[in-house]
Amino acid sequence: MGQFRYAERTECMESSILREILKVTAQPGMISLAGGLPSPDAFPVELVKELCDKALTTWKDSILQYGTSEGFAPLLEALSDYLKNDRHIKSAETDRILVTNGSQQILDVVAKLFIMPGDKIAVESPTYLGALQAFNPYQPVYVDIATDEEGVIPESLEEVAVKEKPKFFYLVPTFQNPTGKSIGLERRKAIADIAIKHNLLIVEDDPYGAIRYRGEPLPPIASLASDNILYSGTFSKTFAPGLRLGFVTAPKDLISWMVKAKQSIDLHTSTFVQALAALYLGEGHMKRQIPKICELYRPKQEAMLVALKKHFPSSFFFTEPEGGMFVWAEGPEGFDSLAVYEKAIERKVAYVPGRFFYTRKEDGAGTMRLNFTNSTVEQINSAIATLGELFAEHL
Ligand SMILES: Cc1ncc(COP(=O)(O)O)c(C=O)c1O
Repeated sequence: MGQFRYAERTECMESSILREILKVTAQPGMISLAGGLPSPDAFPVELVKELCDKALTTWKDSILQYGTSEGFAPLLEALSDYLKNDRHIKSAETDRILVTNGSQQILDVVAKLFIMPGDKIAVESPTYLGALQAFNPYQPVYVDIATDEEGVIPESLEEVAVKEKPKFFYLVPTFQNPTGKSIGLERRKAIADIAIKHNLLIVEDDPYGAIRYRGEPLPPIASLASDNILYSGTFSKTFAPGLRLGFVTAPKDLISWMVKAKQSIDLHTSTFVQALAALYLGEGHMKRQIPKICELYRPKQEAMLVALKKHFPSSFFFTEPEGGMFVWAEGPEGFDSLAVYEKAIERKVAYVPGRFFYTRKEDGAGTMRLNFTNSTVEQINSAIATLGELFAEHL
């Protein structure tokens, strides 16, 4: 009990153990594979200076004024072109787009619009922790969709749709956070067909789709069933997360509800930041920047995969994603990644124990999420060697 009478929903806000775990990553000398930060080397600082100047010259004081809740018109135009031509979402007209403060805000707005206490919503297991944190205060009942090495199993999604009738399905189909897994093309088509057949709402969260190191690009599920999908994107991994800029395309009626829900939170997203993004996207800077970001991350990811093969005990499984920012590892039966965590910290390496990404507290004890984007190749080699040694001792 605190000093004030907080709402009951505060009891469902954020796991404090995880906060404690992430705090230690700031200790001096720590190699943190725990966070999910892009590398600062990926931020185009000089370009941002130029874009600030150009934005102010082009739009003058108007970009320092209040704006419309839907978004800054030149950015909506640029996003519409990008979503139609690069993401193949042909329905993405400007009146089906909303610009947000990061894509995290989209999750909060979705929760606010759809979840009453006790309502069922369906998620992958494990799933993005920030989504659980956005949904939890609205007190949903989670229904897990079964997954395998290729992500969501369409038959399971259909079974959940028919039996549980969740308000919506939340999926991260490409380079998922935390596992790095991607749903293959055939499964995407099957999921799109199921969504249309049962008139489902699928929230497709896609922050990592453009960050690909190998293999063929996969179309968003939204390009296959746009009337049933709320597609969420962000500039956090393709520009800079500190700008806090996300965007969503969805059926018109849903966008108009989202606009109302966002209005009461912040009126609108920063006009100035949207102007920078309008130039970044509209003038082709993003197209040139993404390959540079991938070139920066590819050797880091390769180093992590090679080090995992070399140093982790052979009883460990790990994913080998073709892109994104994470690798997911799982130890053998009986291994507990949270129990060894303190020893890892003593040896100056941090990771996220995987259990925090599950809706049921008994799941995922042997799993962990490893980030490679915000460490050097040397740090990654040394951290994985340390963990491998520690886990071998612990088994
Ligand atoms: C799956 C997923 N969704 C949403 C977000 C939120 O990103 P942002 O609010 O920076 O757009 C993240 C951030 O890491 C993420 O991994």
